[in-house]
Amino acid sequence: MATAVLGLQWGDEGKGKITHLLAGSASMVVRWNGGPNAGHTVIDRGVKFGTHLLPAGVFYEGVTSVIAGGVVVDLAVLREEHDAVARHLGRAPRLLLAENAHLIMPYHRILEDAEGSGARFGTTRRGIAPAYRDKAAHVGVRVGDLLEPRRLRDKVAWRLDLLRREWPSSAELRALDPDDLVASQIALGRPWFESIVEASSVVGRALAAGEEVMFEGAQGALLDVDFGTYPYVTSSSTLFGGIATSLAVDVGRIGRRLGVTKAYQTRVGEGPFPTELNDPTGAGLRDRGGEFGTTTGRPRRCGWLDLVALRYAIRLNGANELALTKVDVLDGLAKIKVCRAYRLDGKVTEEFPLSGERLATAEPVYEELAGWPTWRRVASWDELAGAARNYVQFIEEATGVPVTILSYGPSPEDTLHRAL
Ligand code: GDP
Ligand code: IMO
Ligand code: MG
Repeated sequence: MATAVLGLQWGDEGKGKITHLLAGSASMVVRWNGGPNAGHTVIDRGVKFGTHLLPAGVFYEGVTSVIAGGVVVDLAVLREEHDAVARHLGRAPRLLLAENAHLIMPYHRILEDAEGSGARFGTTRRGIAPAYRDKAAHVGVRVGDLLEPRRLRDKVAWRLDLLRREWPSSAELRALDPDDLVASQIALGRPWFESIVEASSVVGRALAAGEEVMFEGAQGALLDVDFGTYPYVTSSSTLFGGIATSLAVDVGRIGRRLGVTKAYQTRVGEGPFPTELNDPTGAGLRDRGGEFGTTTGRPRRCGWLDLVALRYAIRLNGANELALTKVDVLDGLAKIKVCRAYRLDGKVTEEFPLSGERLATAEPVYEELAGWPTWRRVASWDELAGAARNYVQFIEEATGVPVTILSYGPSPEDTLHRAL
């Protein structure tokens, strides 16, 4: 069955681990949104990787990995990542690139810094918003343009000219030369020239043939450009529906919608976070959970699990299974709090407000559950006992969605599977 792995929080839920865990039995693994703002930690045969663009399928021989049209690609990042993975595997990763995926150009990063959105929103400063903005304004450059150097040069020279007029005092923009930009993009992209495809038909055919296609989400539901905590969001569709716009395939064939959530909550960058803990308990979660950004190294903000947000994210994605990660990080806490509702405008509500500004005024209403000393390695689901089992059941009852994967450590073997 085709599977989508979906982040249900503000990113970093452990999507990399979960996708890597399942990708070995897939025929194809597809990244459909975002770009090198993503940082997915994968431990492959004991070696740790933080992947930004490569789908987790690259670690398995015989699995085809695809970067879809909805992704923004920084070829310099892709090259570096590709080379590191190739050294580890002793072979080149099998990768296809959608011809309609957009390129993040060096001027996109310059622009993001010039605008100061890194400071205002806590972005990853990878040029994500400027690249998606160029795409929407039809002044972007696409992967397929690499095969037509004259067309590429025309687009790059025109865009650069407009940008220089907009930012006349930028020495960095002045220093860029269109011919150099084109030459360097072509040199970086050359190894994939034979692998540039119309991804919609490639992935659509695999789905129609009933192959096990996996979709690896980047970011999380609460960072979605339309339904996240706007304006503290990313620039792409992080939801299940984003697969449809990124690839125009029959998403009805994707039966397994596996939402990934940590057993607590984190966020990196600015924006509202009702259950944030600015105290030793929050610092303890950060230390035990190693909560530092995979892409930027920034400390992540930590807090209790937010069920109001989780139910919202499940609804937006139509998630029908949950992967609950990092339960081990809650070890040793006498009590664990979970947010069941918000107090908003003097009323108690279980509705997640669409506006990020309103969410900033929400106060969590907590329920307290018993903690456990240490997460015990158990051979099967039935052996799960006591407070740990209660915590999992509590989440299932509150969301109405079964937990089918429990992750209690970063390595693939620290995982419990449950068949439905
Ligand atoms: P992603 O962006 O969703 O792929 O998540 P990240 O890789 O950015 O962040 C998840 C972090 O938690 C990584 O450092 C993982 O190695 C780690 N991790 C994943 N699952 C678990 C788990 O169950 N327990 C612990 N302790 N760490 C985990
Ligand atoms: P993965 O795939 C966590 C956050 C940034 C910032 C906001 C906008 O590893 O879960 P952007 O650079 O996208 O314009 O930044 O989104 N952000 C992420 N946070 N995990 C991610 O990806 C993220 N990708 C973007 O921190 O708050
Ligand atoms: Mg991450």
